[in-house]
Amino acid sequence: MATINDHYLKLKAGYLFPEIARRVNHFATEHPTANIIRLGIGDVTEPLPEACRMAMVQAVHDMGDRATFRGYGPEQGYSWLREKIAHHDFQSRGCEIEPSEIFISDGSKCDSGNILDIFGKHNSIAVTDPVYPVYVDTNVMAGHTGEANGHGTYAGLYYLPITAENNFTAAIPPQKIDLIYLCFPNNPTGATASKEYLQSWVDYATAHKSIIFFDAAYEAFITNPDLPHSIYEIPGARDCAIEFRSFSKNAGFTGTRCAFTVVPKGLTAQALDGTGIELWGLWNRRQSTKFNGVSYIVQRGAEAVYSPNGQAQVRALVDFYMENATIIRNQLTTAGLTVYGGVNAPYVWVKTPNEISSWDFFDYLLHHTHVVGTPGSGFGSAGEGYFRISAFNSRKNVEEAMERVITNL
Ligand code: MLT
Repeated sequence: MATINDHYLKLKAGYLFPEIARRVNHFATEHPTANIIRLGIGDVTEPLPEACRMAMVQAVHDMGDRATFRGYGPEQGYSWLREKIAHHDFQSRGCEIEPSEIFISDGSKCDSGNILDIFGKHNSIAVTDPVYPVYVDTNVMAGHTGEANGHGTYAGLYYLPITAENNFTAAIPPQKIDLIYLCFPNNPTGATASKEYLQSWVDYATAHKSIIFFDAAYEAFITNPDLPHSIYEIPGARDCAIEFRSFSKNAGFTGTRCAFTVVPKGLTAQALDGTGIELWGLWNRRQSTKFNGVSYIVQRGAEAVYSPNGQAQVRALVDFYMENATIIRNQLTTAGLTVYGGVNAPYVWVKTPNEISSWDFFDYLLHHTHVVGTPGSGFGSAGEGYFRISAFNSRKNVEEAMERVITNL
């Protein structure tokens, strides 16, 4: 009989968001008239920017004409998109990133899991607690961990607690860790990292020859001009960091699918015999073998993000969600709750009232207000006692949800 990848058996329950959907669907079946407002998964609700839609329509027409039709594109993405990203997202901020170092993909979630393909089995790995669950689960699937304990904490992973006491920014570990996942602006806590803080990680990674996986999927939501948008704004980061970016949240591409990963040339890790090997070449090889690129139509849509109209429309979208975040923060604060995040990030991280558990608060809100959030403990044991509320929804729904929540606290 064929055998399975037994590491999958170590995974705890379902992936967080399908598990929430399962509970919500069950509730909806039993309460078919309930008007459920979903502020759980960070999925966008507002229409795609017009500039992106128009570019995609034009691209559809291109596909209908033999002269402009495209078959397989470059696995790494079209050069016209990679050039715009390099210029607008990096070079304009003083980061030395070349178009050839940008790999277009269909999502940061996929890339942050797939990147493990090019790393060895015996790296020490650090994640924050709480954390975006994909970083943990993909390492479990790859066999990089032992079993989970009763709190869902996996043997073999090094957890860096992020709490209100440390401003949701992890302390630098005393020992050497090979692979470190950092996410700023942070999912789920909405915390941010200063340049000084990121410099301390870059210095650590440089000293230990570690690699930082830097997830910057939410950089567009930064409102404080002093905060870095990319780890490559930090001197030395080219030699120790891979960055993940996405069009999902800034341009509303969660359903359209386009993202990119930056792998600087010259960034190396060791082969078993101790030789330093360039990661760019390995990732290029991996992508060329296992991925056929993002569709031409979608890449044209993403390219339009960088047009003057696209920039204005994306800014308006981001501002819209951030106004939602402000409403959520203000309403919950006025109602007496302690809230974090929601200033430079679309997530508000709320302390549950009266010390009730994250899942109990989830159930309470679902049953009494028909509002869905995400239990903090779903992001890790240090998330217990917290609850994440996403600002991704219509204004009407956010206002209605907050009204329901504060009258039922
Ligand atoms: C979230 O809610 O944390 C995000 O939607 C996750 C994701 O983008 O995959």
